[in-house]
Amino acid sequence: MTNYRIAIDGPAASGKSTVSREVARNLKFMYVDSGALYRGMTWKAVREGVDVKDPEAVIDLMNRSEWDFFEEDLTLKFTIDGVDPTDHLRSEPVRERVADIAVIQEIRAFMVARLQETAAFGDLVMEGRDIGSVVFPDALFKYYLDADPEERARRRHKELLATEGRGEVSEVLSSLARRDKMDSTRKTAPLQIPLGARVINTTGMTIEEVVDRIVSEVNEHRAASA
Ligand code: DC
Repeated sequence: MTNYRIAIDGPAASGKSTVSREVARNLKFMYVDSGALYRGMTWKAVREGVDVKDPEAVIDLMNRSEWDFFEEDLTLKFTIDGVDPTDHLRSEPVRERVADIAVIQEIRAFMVARLQETAAFGDLVMEGRDIGSVVFPDALFKYYLDADPEERARRRHKELLATEGRGEVSEVLSSLARRDKMDSTRKTAPLQIPLGARVINTTGMTIEEVVDRIVSEVNEHRAASA
């Protein structure tokens, strides 16, 4: 039988990262954070002093870099030219530039191909912006998680306080609005609700409630097809 691919899309701070990680842990599927690849490319550009507003230079850098993918603790990990960028992916220089990288069509084509190849690892939960629409349009389970803007800003603000000890809710709200606009208006693979995706508005729901809903739907399917 074919592997399960669970696609979880949604805007920034919709809760999809925590939910996806928990769903994967519950089901013992591999967790794939697709944004990490775009962030990895951004980290590489920053490290090499390549201007992210210069698509040709970024594409050239991508073509010169060697990417290796592997599984560790049921999570997809990768190295670029032998270096694991995990610890740098959430840093400010990366966060501020990643949306510029994500609009470059050739970069997207490369990342989509790498993400599609991860299906060879087995059952997986993949989170992102275009997973149910572009990467795995025929996935059996597609979810689109959303939450009201104020709720998303509050969640992101809490995260920033925990990781960096600072941040203003109003600033977070406008930064999220900027990112949403870039992500949903770009020409290639804009953020959208994938055809056939089940939409879950997580405002007022706990992480456990969202996770339980997804895990039970997958388990019901597994039981029915066993
Ligand atoms: O989910 P994230 O915050 O790590 O995403 C970082 C950036 O990459 C964000 O600007 C959206 C973009 N991205 C994308 O365009 N497609 C994906 N599948 C995942 C992320």
